[in-house]
Amino acid sequence: MQLRPWNTRLKGRIRPPSDKSITHRGVLFSALAKGVSEIKDPLDSLDTAASLAVIQNLGVKLIERTATHWVLKSPGYQDLEEPRTIIDCLNSGTTMRLTTGLLAGTPFLTVLSGDDSLRERPMARVMDPLRALGIDIRGRQGGKAPLVVQGGPHRGGVSRLSVASAQVKSALILAGLSADAPLTIHELLPTRDHTERLLKAMGASIEVQSKTITVAPGPVMPYTVAVPGDPSSAAYWAALASLLEDSELLVEGVSLNPGRIGFYQLLQDMGAHVEFRVIQKSPEPIGDIRIGWAPLHGVVVDADIVPGLIDELPLIALLAAHAKGDTVVSGAGELRVKETDRIRATTDNLRSLGVEIEEHADGFSVKGGQRLCGGVVKAMGDHRIAMMLAIAATVASGPVVLEGAEAMEISYPEFFRDYWRFADE
Ligand code: S3P
Repeated sequence: MQLRPWNTRLKGRIRPPSDKSITHRGVLFSALAKGVSEIKDPLDSLDTAASLAVIQNLGVKLIERTATHWVLKSPGYQDLEEPRTIIDCLNSGTTMRLTTGLLAGTPFLTVLSGDDSLRERPMARVMDPLRALGIDIRGRQGGKAPLVVQGGPHRGGVSRLSVASAQVKSALILAGLSADAPLTIHELLPTRDHTERLLKAMGASIEVQSKTITVAPGPVMPYTVAVPGDPSSAAYWAALASLLEDSELLVEGVSLNPGRIGFYQLLQDMGAHVEFRVIQKSPEPIGDIRIGWAPLHGVVVDADIVPGLIDELPLIALLAAHAKGDTVVSGAGELRVKETDRIRATTDNLRSLGVEIEEHADGFSVKGGQRLCGGVVKAMGDHRIAMMLAIAATVASGPVVLEGAEAMEISYPEFFRDYWRFADE
């Protein structure tokens, strides 16, 4: 697909697609509670289809499905069924990792697999702490999927996580619900807490003290969850508004979860005008974000703030090329084990567009004050790389050929509808 530079500014508003992380949890957690759970405004995308496949294979029925409403009926955790086939988690790390914890107490065998990318992603990070609780879970050499989980009785106790990952933390919390005693989990750094919030709303006993979470075993109740907009999907438009002079954008109805807004806070640090308006505080903080263009300057990003903007770091690289002064990102080695190696994908692609950018083991550094040129870029099967490159094309000096744009189906199937709408306004 060929994309041409824009010579407009961006003025307008957007309600981004519904949040991917919250939709995954809404779907998967329905299996825990006997009865009918509802998801309002779910994200309907390839990634969340993987979570739907998981629960349907476990005997949960999708009894109503409209564009704005999914209604799920579970027989209850004790009466889930043994899947008769291998479950395909497609491209979704969230589906696979959360499901391992969900299955911890099920007295049957489940096999989880996925696409070529997912089968290369690290799963030892969930397998090792789950095994330490006595759960029988195996994978291929080196801790890769397919994974085989034989759930059953297991211990609580203490679990110290070795990576800062909401997916791993969530798997452990879910395993704690079916353990024989409370489980205390120590996180390395605070990460998004959608799991804690939703399970609490379902009646689970979960106590959180900064990076320590204690979950008591016990049943939970069905729920209705209203999914807010996805701040990670909205970030593409916020970046665009920060690149095109005199732009102003209102992002409406997004999750303002403290573990998700690091990108917007960094944008503010880089000089953009950013205002948050909280409309609802619980169970999830939800509100609007206003972004106004202003000249950007380079920044330093280190490990402490990485979990709060992990999915937005490719966009930071693009913004940094435009900013005044240099930017250095470190402590972001996790990017190498996402849907693709996002450090390599970001640096190679931006270099193809003429950007001076250097790759490091755990990050990158970007020279500021650059003008991108046209060229050929590749999504590498990664939705977030594809969207970042489509935004990069708007400020290039010539046409950009984007290969593999279809990867956007993972989290933002309507990306180009919104892209052309903003281009025309
Ligand atoms: C997610 C957590 C993050 C993030 C991913 C979604 C979640 O992954 O990159 O897109 O929903 O919990 P890690 O937990 O592996 O950092």
